[in-house]
Amino acid sequence: MPRPLLVTADPDALDDLLRLAAAAGVEVDVADDVPSSRRHWATAPIVVIGPDLIDPFARSRPDRRPKVVVLGRDLDDGSIWQRAVEMGAEQVVFLPDAEPWLIEAFADAVEGGGSDGLLVAVVGGRGGAGATTLSAALAITAVRRDLRTLLVDGDPFGGGIDLVFGGELAAGLRWPELGATRGRVPAAALAEALPTMADLSVLSWDRGDPAQLPVEAVQAVLGAARRNCDLVVVDLPRSLDEASREVLATATTAVLLVPAEVRATAAAARVASGVSLLCRDLRLVVRGPAPGGLLGADVERALGLPLVGELRPEPGLDLALERGEPPARRARSPLAVLCDRLLDDLLGTELRPVA
Ligand SMILES: Nc1ncnc2c1ncn2[C@@H]1O[C@H](COP(=O)(O)OP(=O)(O)OP(=O)(O)O)[C@@H](O)[C@H]1O
Ligand SMILES: [Mg+2]
Repeated sequence: MPRPLLVTADPDALDDLLRLAAAAGVEVDVADDVPSSRRHWATAPIVVIGPDLIDPFARSRPDRRPKVVVLGRDLDDGSIWQRAVEMGAEQVVFLPDAEPWLIEAFADAVEGGGSDGLLVAVVGGRGGAGATTLSAALAITAVRRDLRTLLVDGDPFGGGIDLVFGGELAAGLRWPELGATRGRVPAAALAEALPTMADLSVLSWDRGDPAQLPVEAVQAVLGAARRNCDLVVVDLPRSLDEASREVLATATTAVLLVPAEVRATAAAARVASGVSLLCRDLRLVVRGPAPGGLLGADVERALGLPLVGELRPEPGLDLALERGEPPARRARSPLAVLCDRLLDDLLGTELRPVA
């Protein structure tokens, strides 16, 4: 793991910087003078120079490198900008204002700031459509392809998606313990704190009182999850609360699952209009049986959404779910075949699993 380099002998500045690094979940190297900073100067992903060593640093004319940050002490000291430029620093920051910025910068430096995994939201067109089952099946199929995957329960009234895996006793955090989460969450720490079920990371609701999740908690948790995963699948309720709206607003794709029935299609039209306001890429999956012979293409036409797959009813699924045996464990089951196709569509041909 690369470590940020802190260069300071000032105990107050060091305390502050160590606290911020801990909040970002990163370990650091510390140098208390210019010569001892040389060892890590070229390799540290970010260097923060404390207020006590700005002058010695500027005089030492260090080799230019990106991501050098100067921690100022006195906002009225106009000369600090000049000295920062002389040593090739990119940024001058002051505490406490820059605390969130520094936490983010430390975490980005170690985890990488970017390439987020796909976020796919699954919604049922009517109650009991099979959205939770499809979410779990999609996540399980992704794991079979060696994609780093997280399954997220977005329905506080769903009884807990961990039950799909018979995992109610599995150790690890559930949503209620993450409700106070804010800001930048270290992705590795989140991954470690969540339970694993059927080789899959699962963030589930529990059987306590259902609660509204603050949007900030959803943002923080999903942000960390996407930095650490190729795919995050969220099982959403049909009536969109604030947390679900936040999920849809950041989702890459939403999948609407509609039973091949007239009334389900009518209900799904209402759901689709709400979802499509928030997520531009909304795709349709139609699930049989079709008691009146309604075809996938009929539902597609009625809803005006692209049909990405049809699902034959899966014999024995209800009993398996009742026993806590998750869906799509067999690679050739109708759910697994559909999910494979869905993943092909979602990932495109050029994307490959991360080793
Ligand atoms: N692919 C399928 N084949 C056969 N039966 C299914 C399938 N998917 C779901 N079911 C049946 O439908 C029931 C409800 O499924 P699920 O809980 O996934 O629906 P949901 O849309 O999440 O419901 P809710 O509206 O309560 O969130 C399951 O217990 C199972 O019996
Ligand atoms: Mg459900």
